[in-house]
Amino acid sequence: MDKFVVKGGKRLEGEITISGAKNAAVAILPAVLLCDEVCRIENVPEISDVSVMIRILYELGAKVKMINRDTIEIDPTGVGSCMVSADMSNRMRASSYFMGAMLGRFNRAKVAPPGGCDFGVRPIDQHIKGFEALGAKVVIDNGMVDAKADQLIGAPVYLDKVSVGATINIILASVKARGMTVIENAAKEPHIVDLANFLNSMGADIMGAGTNVIKIRGVRSLHGTTYSIIPDQIEAGTYMVAAAVTGGNVLIKNVIPKHLESIIAKLVETGATVEQYDDSLRVIGPERPKHCNIITLPHPGFPTDMQPQMAVLLSVAEGTSIITDSVWDNRFRYVDQLTIMGAQIQVDGRVAVISGVEKLKGAPVAATDLRAGAAMILAGLCADGVTEIENIEYIDRGYSNVVEKLNAVGGDIKRVNIPPQNVIPQAL
Ligand code: UD1
Repeated sequence: MDKFVVKGGKRLEGEITISGAKNAAVAILPAVLLCDEVCRIENVPEISDVSVMIRILYELGAKVKMINRDTIEIDPTGVGSCMVSADMSNRMRASSYFMGAMLGRFNRAKVAPPGGCDFGVRPIDQHIKGFEALGAKVVIDNGMVDAKADQLIGAPVYLDKVSVGATINIILASVKARGMTVIENAAKEPHIVDLANFLNSMGADIMGAGTNVIKIRGVRSLHGTTYSIIPDQIEAGTYMVAAAVTGGNVLIKNVIPKHLESIIAKLVETGATVEQYDDSLRVIGPERPKHCNIITLPHPGFPTDMQPQMAVLLSVAEGTSIITDSVWDNRFRYVDQLTIMGAQIQVDGRVAVISGVEKLKGAPVAATDLRAGAAMILAGLCADGVTEIENIEYIDRGYSNVVEKLNAVGGDIKRVNIPPQNVIPQAL
């Protein structure tokens, strides 16, 4: 088991290149199952969530070939099983996408309920509602979600809640269904558009991705493709905050500035300078950030996956800021850890009130989930002294080469092995 040791107080300066988007990769990899030929996928991030996805594909019978560090070739033609065990699906939320993908390919999917970060209750009722609308019968059998149909038939699906996962799963299930599926109140996140572009590059007929009405006309088969995953919006946002919170000057390369508008707007409110280029951004941090208020919303609103990182910036801002998370009911578990470092934050349900302090102080803390872990790194970078972060396996789920990227711009972060007798139980 490893931990990160971060020496704070360094101003970040230089260039960071953003990797492929985690949330697009974990949708595109299961989508390969729908294809009848080999697919080559480029700009795949080197993160553990991708490794788990590849392992599941391999165990299902797909042939997987690493072409280089960020390019994989997958041949799904030999896949015979439509079952994903609890052992694998417990490790990540996106394992639920195997339900849509396998239902689309085999008219049958048996998948243990997904794991992933704990933000409170994470139901999949809207996914199931979508499968049922397409004609599948869904039962929970022996702890597994078991969905089957004789033939999936396109249908209108109205989502009661804007859900990224349900939108993706319904797209996957309907791509080869008979007739037209219309998803109303669909999520509009960039990774949904990326998934639709990937499927369309294999011959699917998906219109409207990126709007709240997505129309999928079923096709008989999908052919092989070569496709490059979009840059990771949240990884980019995290490094943008790293530049801002250290008063640094960092060029963030390989980004789509349009995907980052809400993050740019909030950083500018806190006094950062953000220069936009075609596929890069320069962030110059203020001497001391100003306070601001944030409400997280589905895209194009401010992403919930960026609120812990922004909370670090606002913890050292002048004045009082309020963050409201309207997406998840329990996404402030990291606040206890920031408090250990001297942050002054009061949480009431989905609202956190942050009274800015001059400085955070390095301390031993733990990552409570993926983005909370990223927030601890940011806190360590701007704090006085040394911060030791445990439970970093959460961070490895979604950040490619985080140590190398931060050290290349002047950060001081090390991955250190913790001898087994010193590992603190996770209940921390
Ligand atoms: C995805 C992201 C996650 C992000 C979230 C919101 C991936 C792999 N994960 O998660 O990082 O925080 O979007 O941007 O892309 N809901 C229901 N019923 C459902 C499904 C969802 O009530 O069937 C609710 C959830 O409890 C939550 C809200 O809808 O309150 C949004 O969830 P959803 O968009 O589905 O998040 P995920 O796809 O799980």
